[in-house]
Parts: sequence; C-alpha cells; structure tokens
Amino acid sequence: MSNISDHFNLQAGDFGDSFVWGVSTAAYQIEGAHDIHDKGPSIWDEFSSKKGNTYKNQNGKEACEFYHKYQEDILLMKKMNIKHFRFSLSWSRILPKGIGTISTQGIEFYNNVINFCLKSGLTPWVTLYHWDLPHALEEKGGWTNRDILGWFEDYVTICAKNFGDRVKNWMVLNEPMVFTGAGYFLGVHAPGKKGLRNFLPSVHHAVLCQAAGGRILRNLVSSANIGTTFSCSQITPYRNNRRDHRAADKADAMLNRLFIEPSLGMGYPWETIPVLKQIKPYIMPEDAKRSVFEFDFIGIQNYTREKVRHSFFVPYIKARIIKASRRKVRTTVMDWEVYPPCIYNMIKRFNGYPGVKKIIITENGSAFIDKIEEGTVYDKERLSYLQAYLKQVHKAKREGLKVDGYFVWTFTDNFEWADGYFPRFGLVYVDFKNQQRIVKSSGKWFSAFLGCKKIYL
Ligand code: NOJ
Repeated sequence: MSNISDHFNLQAGDFGDSFVWGVSTAAYQIEGAHDIHDKGPSIWDEFSSKKGNTYKNQNGKEACEFYHKYQEDILLMKKMNIKHFRFSLSWSRILPKGIGTISTQGIEFYNNVINFCLKSGLTPWVTLYHWDLPHALEEKGGWTNRDILGWFEDYVTICAKNFGDRVKNWMVLNEPMVFTGAGYFLGVHAPGKKGLRNFLPSVHHAVLCQAAGGRILRNLVSSANIGTTFSCSQITPYRNNRRDHRAADKADAMLNRLFIEPSLGMGYPWETIPVLKQIKPYIMPEDAKRSVFEFDFIGIQNYTREKVRHSFFVPYIKARIIKASRRKVRTTVMDWEVYPPCIYNMIKRFNGYPGVKKIIITENGSAFIDKIEEGTVYDKERLSYLQAYLKQVHKAKREGLKVDGYFVWTFTDNFEWADGYFPRFGLVYVDFKNQQRIVKSSGKWFSAFLGCKKIYL
C-alpha cells in the first residue's frame, strides 16, 4: 500500500475554483440499445457489422448499456465527486433517418439523461456529433455531400430547441480530423471510404458544419457556452534534418491546424500542404466567411506526441509517423507514447492563436491492460499517466496560459471503435459479460483528488 500523495501533491483546488473537472463519453461507445424503439442505424452500426472492420468483429450494439443503466452510472459519477459529464447525442436516435421524422422516444431518452444529471448535481456537456452519422445520410454521400450542411443545421436546431433550456455547454463536433481522416481517407473507421476525393469534400463540409452549428446554438440557446473539439498531438521531427523538419510541418498542419484555422478565419494550411489546394472546387463563394465562428471555448483532446520522418513513399504529404513501439519508449496499449509534456505543449500551442478565448481539455486518458484481482483493479499505470499529465496541465495554468477545464477519457471502459473492447480507457472497469462496474484505483484516486482528500491505495 502506498500513499500516492508521496508522488503527487496537487489537489483539484490548486487549479482554481472555476476550473471544470469532468469525464467524457460518446453515444455509440456506451449506449448500446442500437435498435430500440425507432432508432435508425448509424454508420458505425453498419461498418461494424461487416467482417474484418473491427477487432474480433466487435460492435457497439450493447456497449455499456448506458441506455438502460444511465441512472446507475450517473449516480456513480456523483459518488465519485464528478461534477461535469460530457456525452454525445446519437443523431439517428433523434432522427432515425437523419432528416424528417423526429423520434419522440429518442428525445425522451436524452431528456431523461439531462434531467437525471441535473437532479444529481452534474452539469451536462453535450457533443452534437461524435462520429455516428445516420446510415440513411451516408447512403446519400454522408460528409462528402454538401447537403449535409442543411441536414446538420436541422438536426442542431432540433437539439437546441429540445435541450437548450437545460443544456448550456455544447460542443459542435468531436475530432473532425479523425472522423474525416480515418473514415473518409484511410477507410479504417466508418464509413470506410478512402482517398482524396472523399476526404477533401468531407473536410470542407465538416468545417462549414462546425461553424453553422455554433451559429444555431448562439441564436437558439440563451447564455450558451459553445465550443467544438479538436484532436491534437505534438509533432516532433524524427531526426534533426531539413527533410524530417519539413515532414513534421506537414503532419502538424494536417493533424493540428486543418480544422481550427478556417474557423478562425485563417483558411486552410495549403502553403504547407499543397495538395490541399485540391479542396478549392468544393469551396463556394462566401464559404470562407461561413467557416468562421467565434467559439466560447476550444476543446483540445491530447493523448500523445508523434515523431515524424520524411518518406518518399507516402503520397501527398511525404511524411511518415514512426510508431512508438519502434522508438523504445513507454507506450499504452494503443501504441501511443506516454509523454506528459505534450499536453503542456499543446495547451501552449493553442494559446498562441489570438482568436482562441478559452481552452478546455475535453479528453485525456490512457488504455492499459487491467486485471481484476480479488475484486479490485489496481491500474497503477493509468494512475501515474493521469497524474503526470495533470502536473503538466497545472504547469500551464501556473504560467497563466488559458486552460479552464479537464475531462478524463473516459468514465467506464467502452467500445473503442475499430479496436473494439480491447483497449480499456475507463476510470471504472466494465465486465462486459454481466455489465458489472468496478471503480479502478485510478477512479478512486480521481474521486479523492476531486474531493481534495488524501487517499491510500
Ligand atoms: C478520441 C475520441 O474522441 C474517442 O471517441 C476515443 O475513444 C478516444 N479519443 C480514445 O481513442
């Protein structure tokens, strides 16, 4: 047994009274109940039903059964001193076909979740789009079809009108770089499309929806706190030579700049990545203006850093990421390097944009192999990961950088997209055979940290 305060002596209070602490989740990863009532299928239902697309062909049909267990899970959050809960809305639960008829049961489910949060003293933080596009819309081209702008505006309007009286904290999109890059360029995520001709229109339409969603919320929700979230990784050249530096700049523009810069009125980073100029045919007059929205906060989601080298064989960007496992560094089961300074560096980086008003870490966390021993899960690697990254967030705060909140990814173990249920990111272990929840040591620690108490593990 060790007193973890020996190694880590911060408390939540050290980040200031208004600092927001919470946990993050996403609909498809936790809800299950994939076809209850009139819910329509999403692209993830479709993608994961095809052999070979996910680890062991797993899917989110049941996931953590949050749909049925939301009260139990929210009460557990409350017990763990968690005051802010980030979750996403499933578009096809609200609009089974993506457009047209609204599902009253879908609206009722989210009303129940929101009301139960509020009753339990938790503040809801709602993401409008966390990757589960209605399959019916994908059949019309999904994110590659410019009509998505109108479909998305209608969906956001419905959400704002139904939930905006009680939900004040909103995030428009979750990690657009990942859902366009993995879903419409590499084809390794839903809907499994590939190539520039799918990727570039999806990028541009996501940029337009990002801003349009913000404007609708601003008009319809009084005193709304409106943000959107971006994946980001510190990019370091593999070797200190000119070609690797150039490769790193390109990877950085793709992974860290592509979506925020148009929203700030800076346009696409095509001087750094010339192939991006091929996006021009999708850009209509006035789109540069339409891409801009003054977000109240930017959600940054950081886990790791990448080392990048020049590679002649990688098309378009001529840059290759060197896997962490080849670099002899500490890694998580995602093969992501454990490198705590990256979160500080990314906070600093996003502080560098004059248009960014506030930054919230809307995701940070880690997946390691967890074992149940005598009914407990002593996940010391996750615990030390969280503490080390939090020290860096605190350093940023101390230096006066903007950073106003931190959400752990994630509350319970859940469906990690193409990697299925293998990576466990939760503060709470889920036994997927019987849906039993066991708070891991990291969860016990986080709860004590939030309660500003010492804990012995
Ligand atoms: C990014 C995504 O938003 C989330 O859905 C995912 O599970 C985590 N990061 C971990 O990969």
